[in-house]
Amino acid sequence: MSSLLTVSHLTKRFHISGGIRSELTAVRNVSFKIFHGEILGLAGESGSGKTTVSRLLLGLEQPDEGEVRYEGMEFSSLDRVGRQGIRREIQAIFQDPFASLNPIMRVGKIIEEPLKIQGIKDSEGNSSVVKKLLETVGLPVSCMAKRPDQLSGGEQQRVCIARALALRPGLLIADEPVSALDAELRAGILALLREFRNKSGISVLLIAHDLLLFKGIADRVAIMYEGEIVEIGKTEEVLSRPRHPYTRELLQAVPPYCMDDLMKNVRKGRDNGEVSEGNMCRYWSRCSQVAECCRKEVPPEKESESGFYRCHF
Ligand SMILES: Nc1ncnc2c1ncn2[C@@H]1O[C@H](COP(=O)(O)OP(=O)(O)OP(=O)(O)O)[C@@H](O)[C@H]1O
Ligand code: SF4
Ligand SMILES: [Mg+2]
Repeated sequence: MSSLLTVSHLTKRFHISGGIRSELTAVRNVSFKIFHGEILGLAGESGSGKTTVSRLLLGLEQPDEGEVRYEGMEFSSLDRVGRQGIRREIQAIFQDPFASLNPIMRVGKIIEEPLKIQGIKDSEGNSSVVKKLLETVGLPVSCMAKRPDQLSGGEQQRVCIARALALRPGLLIADEPVSALDAELRAGILALLREFRNKSGISVLLIAHDLLLFKGIADRVAIMYEGEIVEIGKTEEVLSRPRHPYTRELLQAVPPYCMDDLMKNVRKGRDNGEVSEGNMCRYWSRCSQVAECCRKEVPPEKESESGFYRCHF
């Protein structure tokens, strides 16, 4: 598979006021690729930097260091027309579908809107494009006349997907697209993404808290911890033979996925003043395998069967 998107050494810092630190590194030296037609899962606990990565890819934030290339084109080198083209190519859906939809617009207009904004008039007529998109996402044509509040959460997310697909993007970023939905609706939305990928060859960056959600959906998964990718590899391999202690912690927390336990661990480390900066493993204050070297040296990137992990052991 060839690479659609190449992310190299991406770093994003935010200036913060009122705390001990004046700067927070949300994304730290992150590198990965998304291949054509691939679904890449991105997991990690709250605050690990997943959304910031997606915002950098969408051009909503600018990196402090590093670069993003789409089909070989480097984002920061693009002129206005180039940037517009990339904006069409990379589309996104988010956690709360209702908040992403204009409540006073009818579904048909919502899906057609991106075509209008881009000045696109399909030869068959935009309304026939909208009908096809509704069919693709498994919604009846009658939905066109409804407002978002007249749809269920699952249907609203399908409308968001249809709108995101209207411009035929090459990459869809789905930031926790099912976390607001119940189990049955989740499965339907994930199956829809996989089915659409199989048919159209679109690439997807699927962000989630729950690692097990990627099973049977994502081709590879990347695990983020404090802004860094600590492990990446084929989904089956990472889920069945995790190499990084943090990946094992995430897997032990599911099912049921117990975010409260993870957050207790985060607080435990931070309340002890154990802010992991400098020459050390950032995970040391939580790691059950911690050794002397972990507090003195940054762990190296080690090869796994299908990717890498960052650990001394
Ligand atoms: N605009 C901003 N200004 C300051 N800090 C920010 C900003 N955006 C994000 N952050 C901080 O960056 C870190 C990463 O945030 P991000 O939203 O990327 O995490 P996340 O992994 O998506 O979390 P969640 O799972 O809760 O959505 C957090 O500590 C967050 O508070
Ligand atoms: S380097 Fe040490 S602290 Fe970090 S994950 Fe590996 S064993 Fe744990
Ligand atoms: Mg997020």
